[in-house]
Amino acid sequence: MTSAIRFAAYGEPDVLELVQVDAPEPGEDQVLVRVRAAGVNPADWKRRKGLWAGGKALGAPTGVGHDLAGVVEAVGPGVTSPRVGDEVLGTGTETYAELALARPSSLTGRPAEVPWEVAGGVGVAGRTAYRVLRQLGIGPGDTLLIHAAAGGVGIVATQLALAWGATVVGTAGSDNQAFVRELGASPVQHGDGWEDRVRAAAPDGVDAVLDASGRGELAASVALVGGPERVLTIAADDAEEHGVRFSGSDEGVDVSDAFPELARRLAAGDLVLPVWRTYPLAEAAEAHRVSEAGHLRGKIVLLP
Ligand SMILES: NC(=O)c1ccc[n+]([C@@H]2O[C@H](COP(=O)([O-])OP(=O)(O)OC[C@H]3O[C@@H](n4cnc5c(N)ncnc54)[C@H](OP(=O)(O)O)[C@@H]3O)[C@@H](O)[C@H]2O)c1
Repeated sequence: MTSAIRFAAYGEPDVLELVQVDAPEPGEDQVLVRVRAAGVNPADWKRRKGLWAGGKALGAPTGVGHDLAGVVEAVGPGVTSPRVGDEVLGTGTETYAELALARPSSLTGRPAEVPWEVAGGVGVAGRTAYRVLRQLGIGPGDTLLIHAAAGGVGIVATQLALAWGATVVGTAGSDNQAFVRELGASPVQHGDGWEDRVRAAAPDGVDAVLDASGRGELAASVALVGGPERVLTIAADDAEEHGVRFSGSDEGVDVSDAFPELARRLAAGDLVLPVWRTYPLAEAAEAHRVSEAGHLRGKIVLLP
């Protein structure tokens, strides 16, 4: 038996329980990872609340979590890489656990220079940032506006966009203005009047917008860019209304180098991913409360 977080009904954070379960067994195209660190993402608590359940009750107790870093404990039939004993980072299934399954294509080696909690926090946020910048076609000469630049996705997107040659303007709260500047972007206070502050920060205009906030920024973002083609949201539910792309998948882009590039950059110090708080697995409910409160600077990470 092994420890894992499970919930038996949608609801408040306290539905998350630490329980003993059978160790999962890796099937074809799967490896079993002994989890050293598992990042918390808004997707985890949105699912726990039942926001994507369409009003249906949960059928059976289920696990939660996508991010992970750890050591490969076993491999399924036919898997040649990674091998047992390899240290990996990336994404898997129900990763709030001592043992979790992952697909080899969703993992890369953990460089020794990258602390476990950072490696365990980069999964969803890092891969999403990489994907959406590719989908927006960000490159040299672009001025990119990122809404929620101090969140997990925003932090990685800001640094990758700068590394790929763009100029970045990032919205954040007052506590995160200096941090966004340290990342290399021009910080702009979010909230009423943000459009004017962005115009002042980018007098030559904005070429593209990544909305990682989802708090009603789309209409003004389209106006700033002069059309919806290079505005993309990962968080707003009114994208269609504004003719804006909602990105929830890798459609149209090759992201096979996402984790290798992120790992290389983290190891080289070209990419920083601050860890805001860590919690033992047993305190997953508290980790969700803090994530839901919404004003973080970097990742919340569970350490099983
Ligand atoms: N579609 C997809 O594939 C996908 C993938 C990953 C994430 N997402 C979604 O993208 C969103 C961001 O994810 P994340 O992991 O980056 O979240 P996160 O790490 O929890 O960050 C949330 C950030 O939102 C900022 N924020 C709070 N109020 C704001 C406001 N009024 N305007 C602008 N920013 C504000 C906070 O910064 P301050 O403290 O500075 O206010 C905080 O840093 C979530 O809704 C998540 O579900 C979607």
